[in-house]
Amino acid sequence: MQYDKGLLFEESFVKELKERFYLVDADPQHGNRLFFDNSGGSLRLKKCVQTKAEIEAFPDCPERIHARSVYLKGLVDYGTKEILEIIFGAKSGALITELTASQTMFQAVGMIMENVKGTNAVVSSIEHPSAFDAVEYYCKKTNREMRVVPASTVTGGIEVEEVIKRIDKNTVLVSIMSASNISGNVMDIKEIARRAKEINPDIYIVSDMVQHAPHCKIDVEDLKIDVANIAPYKFFGIRGCGYCYISDRVVKFPHHKLIAKPQETFELGTSAPANFAAMMEIINYVCYIGERFIGKKTRKETYDEGMRRIHLHERALLYRMLEGTPEVKGLRHIDGVTVHVDTDDLTKRDLIVAMSIDGVDLTQTVAEYQRRGVTVYERVNTSIYSKRIVQALGIKGAIRVSPLHCHGREDIDRYLKITADMARYYKELKQ
Ligand SMILES: Cc1ncc(COP(=O)(O)O)c(C=O)c1O
Repeated sequence: MQYDKGLLFEESFVKELKERFYLVDADPQHGNRLFFDNSGGSLRLKKCVQTKAEIEAFPDCPERIHARSVYLKGLVDYGTKEILEIIFGAKSGALITELTASQTMFQAVGMIMENVKGTNAVVSSIEHPSAFDAVEYYCKKTNREMRVVPASTVTGGIEVEEVIKRIDKNTVLVSIMSASNISGNVMDIKEIARRAKEINPDIYIVSDMVQHAPHCKIDVEDLKIDVANIAPYKFFGIRGCGYCYISDRVVKFPHHKLIAKPQETFELGTSAPANFAAMMEIINYVCYIGERFIGKKTRKETYDEGMRRIHLHERALLYRMLEGTPEVKGLRHIDGVTVHVDTDDLTKRDLIVAMSIDGVDLTQTVAEYQRRGVTVYERVNTSIYSKRIVQALGIKGAIRVSPLHCHGREDIDRYLKITADMARYYKELKQ
């Protein structure tokens, strides 16, 4: 079933989920608040943070033969396998590990651009700077034309047709993010990959999945793509690592590694077993959600079901945020509130809303939200991270509101009531 308006978790289950995260409802110094800035770095699973600390306590080098060392090495090996197979849905390929998702993107794009023949590369106008700048940097370095795909100012996304228009048989790669980190709009990467390969069967398909991965199952095999990266700190996890799937075609290119190591090794130096252990805690958590609905199945099946349920619950929260209920008005219906690049089909959106209160400065709005106990973020045309993107969407900026699946009906309703109060307050100030 499609569940166009999503499917909510029971409130008792939401409570159970919240227990598994740190600081969901309050900051220890600054008191109660709704943390609705999960696109900037999501709420952290307790198990991830605790496991990271526990594993860091062991001094043993993972390259020895004693039991603790073997255990630590096992975490890296098993963790790598699980990230590839369970999170990315990969049947082959390799994992690039770095300190950030941005670094993995530069590395993957560089490997392709420096080793593949062609005259141009295509990137969307709403990419995060790590994906956009990686293409720009390597286009300049390898003397290629860079073609930028404009965004739809109606949906906030990238239309397949607009991408395809810019691809020819000499296009080295196309890089389109899976979901927008401003509007939550989800791109049709599968169709982009399929159509792009009709024009140039040798083209490389790159997709930044940092935004999309915490909201939806990923399947690089089904999408038929070559590069996909994630950032664990936006995925209920920890800072200090970024992971990227690369296909076998990319693995074979020359890359930084110790000469004696196998071609598919991307770790340079001693790896961090604790980071892999933390990633497996993310997988355990999603499996725990999945198991509630389908019982004990394979780890991959329960993970996929967990992600499906997260996606459906978040869609229902998005619907509630936009439409409200008979008791509480949704954003679309509050006088003095604008929802930007708002589209009806919620099956093509993740749980992010770009909104503003009419005539009120965005930074001031964020400060007022914070004063009233809501943490959100403004994406404005004066920030290096947002300028190109908000301009591409034809707006000066917007407040980005990004709850998480561990939020429930009451959290959304509280946010809506606060928003209605603020809209009324600012309207009265103007009169
Ligand atoms: C869509 C998207 N891609 C990439 C990144 C970069 O991630 P990292 O900070 O791990 O480099 C971000 C971070 O804000 C992002 O939102």
